[in-house]
This record gives sequence, structure tokens and C-alpha cells, in this order.
Amino acid sequence: MIGLVALTMIAGSALSASAQSFTLSNTCQTTLASIAASTEGICINAAGLIPLSLAGANSSLVGPINSWLGGACSATACSNDTLQTFALNITSGCASDLMNFGIQPSDDDAIAAAVQQYYPLVREVACMKDNNAQSLCVTQTLNNIQASNGQLSLNGIISLVPKVASGGLGALNLSQNETCTDCLKEAYNLVSSEQPQLLSSDVNSTISGQCGADFTDGDVPGNVVQTANGLALAKNGSNAAPHMYEAGRAAALLTVLASGFVVFA
Ligand SMILES: *[C@@H]1O[C@H](CO)[C@@H](O)[C@H](O)[C@H]1NC(C)=O
Ligand SMILES: *[C@@H]1O[C@H](CO)[C@@H](O)[C@H](O)[C@H]1NC(C)=O
Ligand SMILES: *[C@@H]1O[C@H](CO)[C@@H](O)[C@H](O)[C@H]1NC(C)=O
Ligand SMILES: *[C@@H]1O[C@H](CO)[C@@H](O)[C@H](O)[C@H]1NC(C)=O
Ligand SMILES: *[C@@H]1O[C@H](CO)[C@@H](O)[C@H](O)[C@H]1NC(C)=O
Ligand SMILES: *[C@@H]1O[C@H](CO)[C@@H](O)[C@H](O)[C@H]1NC(C)=O
Ligand SMILES: *[C@@H]1O[C@H](CO)[C@@H](O)[C@H](O)[C@H]1NC(C)=O
Repeated sequence: MIGLVALTMIAGSALSASAQSFTLSNTCQTTLASIAASTEGICINAAGLIPLSLAGANSSLVGPINSWLGGACSATACSNDTLQTFALNITSGCASDLMNFGIQPSDDDAIAAAVQQYYPLVREVACMKDNNAQSLCVTQTLNNIQASNGQLSLNGIISLVPKVASGGLGALNLSQNETCTDCLKEAYNLVSSEQPQLLSSDVNSTISGQCGADFTDGDVPGNVVQTANGLALAKNGSNAAPHMYEAGRAAALLTVLASGFVVFA
């Protein structure tokens, strides 16, 4: 669920970037362009985000997102040094933009630490694949949302954002077999084992009420596999010294990052 929320947020904000109400400062655009052009940007396939901005306003973005993720997951994971460079360059280049999200750029060290803390989990969730469906889990989930809500084009997403903002994920009208998938079960497993502080204490019972006790039993669905390149390497050590930081702010930072790539392109 968290993955779905984060994705919706990131996709929604990235794309509403093209709406007049949301523009990034010039220094922020320059900073993001420099990341996309850098060798460091390869670890998040930053250049692969450009096709998202080239798609017509009415054509589905699920294909371009799938291609971008495929490239990002097969790239070597970002090192902590690279993540720190991204975070520090963005907090300085996008200071005024971040303040619009309630993020004080003076928190730059805390922001960098939060990005380093959450990156392995985000990458792991984003790179899960359902072997039965032969599809990345993100793509499968977006296709399900698309089937119930119409095309996830730029215009389609812009029209969904206010519905989700006011009605929550329930506004997406997904059926139980779409919200209780093996993919989302494994996403829940990963969040609850790696960053359990992200989940409120009642979430387990809420989710098992909706999806059945099997959904929260912690078993890994056999058909869900990991496609992130060298994941064991990226994960080792990531459970050392957890640094608490508000996940919402980390998500907002990722949102600015994603938005920016769409804007500058
Ligand atoms: C980060 O900022 C520094 C200083 O402006 C610059 O030299 C470096 O190229 C930037 N790195 C990336 C990945 O954009
Ligand atoms: C998208 O569709 C809407 C409504 O169908 C139409 O008014 C608009 O011109 C289309 N935009 C593009 C870029 O095709
Ligand atoms: C979800 O269903 C309700 C009632 O069935 C409907 O009014 C609403 O427009 C639907 N939402 C979407 C995004 O299709
Ligand atoms: C989910 O259930 C609905 C109706 O209950 C059905 O039409 C749809 O095909 C199902 N989807 C999947 C992926 O099984
Ligand atoms: C969640 O509930 C399941 C039973 O439905 C239980 O086995 C599991 O230990 C619970 N997990 C947490 C983190 O409380
Ligand atoms: C990471 O951990 C796994 C399992 O504990 C181990 O098999 C692997 O060799 C480790 N990788 C590195 C680079 O330490
Ligand atoms: C990366 O940084 C995080 C947070 O500062 C830390 O927990 C983790 O161990 C570091 N990972 C590696 C591979 O050094």
C-alpha cells in the first residue's frame, strides 16, 4: 500500500508539473539537468525519465514508466556518496521549491541521511516483479489502476489527483483482487520488515481485515522476485544505525526530484 501511495504521489506530482500551477525554479531545473547528465545519474536511470515528458498529454505513461524502471533496476545501485551528492545538490539548488513542500533546506544533512535510509527499500519495492504475470509489480499495479480509472496519461493522472487527495486510495475503485495482489503483499512484507516505523500499529489488522490474514502472515509469495541489480550488495549494512526521519519529507523530496526531471526535459 505504501508503495502504491508513494507511486501515486510521485507520479501525480511529477505530472502535475506540466500544469501551470506547478513550476520549478530555474536553479532547480539546472540542478536536476546536471544530475541527469552526470555519470552519477545512471544509477537512477535519470535520462530514462525524459520519455515521460515527451508522451502526449493523452497517451498512457505506464509504458514509459515501465521502461524507465527496467533501466533503473538493471543499473548498479547508487552508493551512499552518490545519494548524498544528489540530496545536497538538490537541497541547495531547489531550496525555494522544497520550502513549498514544507522542507527546510537547512535540514540538508538529515535529508541526505533519510534518502540513504529509505533508498534501499524504495528500490527494492520498485524493482519487484511478478513472474506469473511477467510484469514489474509497479507496472502491474498501474495497469490495474488504469483498468478501473481510465488511461494514466498526463491528463488522466491530473484528473485523478484531486479524487485521491480527497477520497484516499478508495477513490481508485480497485477491486479486492487488485489491492490484495501478491505484489502488494510482498511490498507490505518489505516495508514491515525493513522500516516498520512507517506503519502505524493498527495497519496490520486493517489490512488483514481487507485482504485476509494470509496477506499479513509475512510469507514471501513464490512468484514475486527481485530484479534490482546486485540487491544483496545494496542491502547489506542498511540495517545499521536506523536514522529516524519523517518519511513524508523523504517522499516529498523524491517527488521534487521526479517532478524536476519531467519539467526540465
Ligand atoms: C553537485 O554540485 C557540485 C557543486 O556545484 C557539482 O560540481 C557536481 O557536478 C554536482 N553533481 C551532480 C551529480 O550534479
Ligand atoms: C486530449 O484529450 C482532450 C479531451 O478528449 C482534448 O480536448 C485534448 O485536445 C487532447 N490533448 C492532446 C494533446 O491530444
Ligand atoms: C468510483 O465509483 C464511484 C461510484 O461507483 C464513482 O462515482 C466514481 O466516479 C468512481 N471513480 C473513478 C475514479 O472512476
Ligand atoms: C478481479 O475481479 C473482477 C470482478 O470481481 C474481475 O472482473 C476481474 O477479472 C478480476 N481481476 C483479476 C486480475 O483477476
Ligand atoms: C500481522 O498479523 C499476522 C496475522 O494476521 C501476524 O502473523 C503477524 O505477526 C502480524 N505482524 C505484525 C508486524 O504485527
Ligand atoms: C550480503 O549478505 C548476503 C546474505 O547475508 C551474503 O550472502 C552476501 O555475500 C553479502 N554481500 C556482501 C557484498 O557482503
Ligand atoms: C548508507 O547510509 C545509511 C544511512 O546513513 C546507513 O544506514 C547504511 O549503512 C549505509 N550503507 C552503506 C552500504 O554504507
